[in-house]
Amino acid sequence: MRRWRSVLTALILCGACVELSGKRLLKRDIDGRTATILLTTATSENTWTTFEAESRSIGSATNSTDTVDPHAQESSTEISAGTETKRIALTFDDGPHPVCTPLILEVLVRENVPATFFLLGENVELYGDIVKEIAARGHLIGNHTWHHVQITTLPLEEARAEILETSELFEELTGQGTEYVRPPFGTWNPDLEDELDLIPVMWSIDTLDWTTENVDRIVEQVTEEASENDIILMHDSYESTVQAVERIIPLLRAEGFEFVTVDQVIMD
Ligand code: NI
Repeated sequence: MRRWRSVLTALILCGACVELSGKRLLKRDIDGRTATILLTTATSENTWTTFEAESRSIGSATNSTDTVDPHAQESSTEISAGTETKRIALTFDDGPHPVCTPLILEVLVRENVPATFFLLGENVELYGDIVKEIAARGHLIGNHTWHHVQITTLPLEEARAEILETSELFEELTGQGTEYVRPPFGTWNPDLEDELDLIPVMWSIDTLDWTTENVDRIVEQVTEEASENDIILMHDSYESTVQAVERIIPLLRAEGFEFVTVDQVIMD
């Protein structure tokens, strides 16, 4: 069975730098646990590159007894009558943050919502206990490089180290690495993808939370744009993002959305 879905991504400003990304076309060829991903992304301001990653194994988030149970979500908030459940994924980049990430984890456990965290190696090294908490609660962890670097501008050896060292630290802390990478600036090198067996994960809604730090604007943008299988980009480094997430979850639930980790959106 094959399903096609296109995701429009946006011009992103991320932290101290500019993240560029572009139209993404995902082709899923669901055959057991494999998927084929066709991705188009901007490699410079006006250049688009298309590449393909084939036959990737996609795993699901590991849950333990005290983890988020996505199937229990619907019970805590009433969903509008006649509304079908639509999947949507919350993703948080650049963490872990010593204050905001634990606050977001509190919201997520209270609401029983799973999310995906694309972590920086340099922050993982500082806040290992938070990383363990993220994993223990059943959220999905992805790689965002060690120093938030633009992979395509680095020599291959350096780019490889940025990713490998981050994943190795995940493994040390949580017992497992990751199959997912969100490249800072939205630019990715397909050679690394084959070599490191990683799936690049972009986004379809950019909240620009890091630049506005405006709770109302973040909430409005997400609730206005949200549609099935969207991947929402946020950053777990701002208190405004914590407050926005608290409001976004019940609002999207009321619209019939079910929160999942990004692997489930990609596999759908
Ligand atoms: Ni980032």
